[in-house]
Amino acid sequence: MDSQTLGEHYSRIAEWWDNGIKDSKYGVEYVERAIQRVQNKGSALDVGCGSGGRIINSILSAGFSLTALDVSEGMIRLAQKKHRDVHFIHTDLLSWKSAERFDLIIAWDSIFHAPCAQQKPIIEKLCGLLSPDGVLLFTGSHTHGDIIGEDMNGVGFEYGSLHYLEYLRIMEQCGCEFIIMERDQPDPRHVVYMCRKLADKDADAV
Ligand SMILES: C[S@@+](CC[C@H](N)C(=O)[O-])C[C@H]1O[C@@H](n2cnc3c(N)ncnc32)[C@H](O)[C@@H]1O
Repeated sequence: MDSQTLGEHYSRIAEWWDNGIKDSKYGVEYVERAIQRVQNKGSALDVGCGSGGRIINSILSAGFSLTALDVSEGMIRLAQKKHRDVHFIHTDLLSWKSAERFDLIIAWDSIFHAPCAQQKPIIEKLCGLLSPDGVLLFTGSHTHGDIIGEDMNGVGFEYGSLHYLEYLRIMEQCGCEFIIMERDQPDPRHVVYMCRKLADKDADAV
């Protein structure tokens, strides 16, 4: 599924998604663990921010200035209604370019929608967007492959992942030290990854 179609699919379920997630603390524990690891709480990036809420609130409470992007117009419109002090961008991460570097990057349950063939360039891009000592948190799976046709509220979605050892190798190649690889749910396919950019590694242009 291309990113535009993914965005349209999320826009179709945006209200349903928001109703289901608005009182949830899902993932917040990991976002807070990532925040604790960041020395300079300057700028943060939320990749695939969805309809906003709990994750954005945690990042703002810690004092970061926040850029949040999402490929779904419907999702980002809901997020904009909740948060006034966030720089929202309606875009696809894959085509988005930025000269800015971030002290914290969160990609919670977003980049796992990209096919496995795009996972390596995505992780390289996110590591490249980190400031020295910056922390990246993302979710993926543990085996190499694509899953097609899982649906939410009657709308189809696709997922892709690398093998966990591939994620660890890419992070290391990008000058990052791995901090966390944990299963947080009964479903063993859901894995949380966290890494930190080593201070002596320059961020490459993306
Ligand atoms: C499952 S929702 C998660 C939203 C939010 N991170 C949360 O946990 O509440 C996934 C979101 O990621 C966005 N997304 C997925 N791939 C993206 C991409 N390549 N660029 C920008 N946004 C993307 C989707 O549009 C959707 O809003």
